[in-house]
Amino acid sequence: MSLNKKSLIKGTYFPPGDKSISHRILILAGQAIGKSEISNLLQGEDVINTLKAMKLLGVQIKKKKDKYIIFGIPPGSLFEPRKVIDFGNSGTGIRLISGLISSNNIKVKLVGDASLSNRPMKRVTEHLTKMGSKIELKKNLFPPIKIKGNGNAVPLSFNIKIPSAQIKSAIMLAALNTNGKVKIKEFKTTRDHTENMLYAMGYNIKVRENSLYRFIEMKNDKELKSIKYNVPGDPSSAAFFISAACLKPGSKLVVKNILFNGTRIGFIKTLKNMGGNISVINKRKIHNELVADIIIEQKNNLCSTIIKSDDIPLQIDEIPILSVVASFANGLTIFKGLKELTVKESNRLELIHQNLKRIGVKSVIKKYDLHIYGNRDLKNGAAIIKHNNDHRILMSFFISNMICKKNNIIKDKSCVKTSYPTFFKHISLFTN
Ligand code: S3P
Repeated sequence: MSLNKKSLIKGTYFPPGDKSISHRILILAGQAIGKSEISNLLQGEDVINTLKAMKLLGVQIKKKKDKYIIFGIPPGSLFEPRKVIDFGNSGTGIRLISGLISSNNIKVKLVGDASLSNRPMKRVTEHLTKMGSKIELKKNLFPPIKIKGNGNAVPLSFNIKIPSAQIKSAIMLAALNTNGKVKIKEFKTTRDHTENMLYAMGYNIKVRENSLYRFIEMKNDKELKSIKYNVPGDPSSAAFFISAACLKPGSKLVVKNILFNGTRIGFIKTLKNMGGNISVINKRKIHNELVADIIIEQKNNLCSTIIKSDDIPLQIDEIPILSVVASFANGLTIFKGLKELTVKESNRLELIHQNLKRIGVKSVIKKYDLHIYGNRDLKNGAAIIKHNNDHRILMSFFISNMICKKNNIIKDKSCVKTSYPTFFKHISLFTN
């Protein structure tokens, strides 16, 4: 596990399976009639917690070599679990499965770790209760979530005011067991994997977009068909290696089989705007998702950029690593409108700011905008990184060793298992 100011990133790299897709395929294949077969499922703890949750809710899932075989049960027929369901660190898991449960006639308690127990849930449950379920939250805001689902959930129209794929997907999963049309209006910048997967599985879903909004209509007059699904590589995990390669002229990295959905690759556009030499080849569509290979062949130093608030949802999980990149790019980089970053696995806005200061980079938070004063000087480093067990903060500031005179100190690296258990193994494979 070596990474320091002299490191270059080189090789041919297959990122681990996409986290968002892994959660969704476990849930939707669990509601499909017949046998589904999933390969390249992410082995991160968040996804494994969703897998365990689906088993507790009555779905049969078996591992056969490196594939998962799922025998689904139809919407509305979930079992009442024998115990509470623990989602660990996963906001996606707890929110999506709250939606799924809320239209089943069962009682369930959903819990999480210390971080998840302080993340806002009302943004999801306020929609779900309108359909008829009864939901209790700690302090009316946070997990544990106690749900008494309604097997006769009312089909309604929803207008989602926060750009969040998790809110939308929770409603969509509740809609799987409603008798009628469910309509959703939301910001079109959120990731659309639930829509793409439902469509691939033969569900009756219509999606329309204008310049700002997406309009979704779901009608459950067709059952979900089982599917063979190979989960493409996660761009949010690959972002650490792609960014690291852009930071260092002389790096050459080929990234294979990466999910290239437009709602997920805002960071690639940002890196290109900063002078990242990234080319895209072999674009192909698999189950309505765009997948590609990319080549990073960095020749020049990076420069600063401005990221507009409308573009933040397209790169929401990559802001921590982009902030490290901005520190080593000449000039002032501004990320606008980072409010959502304050309610992720940690208050990421605050932790980015504090850690940049610790390694020797000037940054300022102005309301929810982040200003980073970048330059090509090596930073002092030798700092104790404060990560509060947030996987993406830890990995981002591990990469920051590449721009520091002395390596930083990171205590307890175990939280990488949340989304990227093989992160350190990959670091040793793709650095010289
Ligand atoms: C996710 C959506 C995003 C993202 C998270 C995964 C998903 O959250 O930050 O890591 O799989 O739907 P929001 O949609 O709440 O912004």
